[in-house]
Amino acid sequence: MKIGVFDSGIGGLTFVKELFNLVSNVEVIYFADSLNMPYGNKSREYIINRAEIIIDFLKSKNSELIISACGTVSSVLPDLQNYKNCENIIGVVKSSCLKAAKITKNNNIGVIATELSIKEKYYEKILLDINKNFKVYPKSCPKLAEIIEHNNNNLSNKNLDYIQSCVLYFAEKNIDTLILGCTHYPVVKKIISQILNNIKIIDSSIETAKFVSKILSKKNNYNFNYNQKKIEIYTSKLTNEFILNASNILSCDLSENIYIW
Ligand code: DGL
Repeated sequence: MKIGVFDSGIGGLTFVKELFNLVSNVEVIYFADSLNMPYGNKSREYIINRAEIIIDFLKSKNSELIISACGTVSSVLPDLQNYKNCENIIGVVKSSCLKAAKITKNNNIGVIATELSIKEKYYEKILLDINKNFKVYPKSCPKLAEIIEHNNNNLSNKNLDYIQSCVLYFAEKNIDTLILGCTHYPVVKKIISQILNNIKIIDSSIETAKFVSKILSKKNNYNFNYNQKKIEIYTSKLTNEFILNASNILSCDLSENIYIW
């Protein structure tokens, strides 16, 4: 089955990595809007316009299912299913909120995401729809997605300090669960869990991959015995850095799989 996946950059590949761990037969057409990254500091109108163009592109590549592997787009376009008459579009917010709701014991949940995602309050809305007794602590980390996009497998001390300063906000909030609401953040998940060592971390890429793998397994023509995982990556700005950082996420050399669009 062919699925389309998109993000502002390499972040959505954290979702693809988890999906590849769960399913044996899937072909991914991935779009990274690297030229216009970061999305988190843009207006909602701008994001809607980009999403529209990218969804059309992924549809033109015959994607049967489209995943907005971007917390920001998923927060701005919560009604993805009804959007552009395309029933088969899935975001990353709901699966992570459901998981957080399931595992919190003290009902205090943190959400760390981009500026626009936090401004849209969609994570908060979904969590409070599940249980109005939840206390939600949202925190934006305006530079983090960009730092990860350009990390080249080596975070400077200055960037490590930045991560620490964002995350320490939660240390005094008595949360027991933290949602990583941006698909770039799983790249620094270990660092975040070391800082907040008693807090359960919810990775939106893992939770969405589990959800998508269930959908794929229900499709009639889906054959579990046939092992084929393929990826074609399109980007609006092709650089060696993009190839390196994308390859690092999927732990393989992607230089032959990446095209400019
Ligand atoms: N991976 C995107 C997200 O999940 C990053 C957004 C950005 O480019 O700021 O929100």
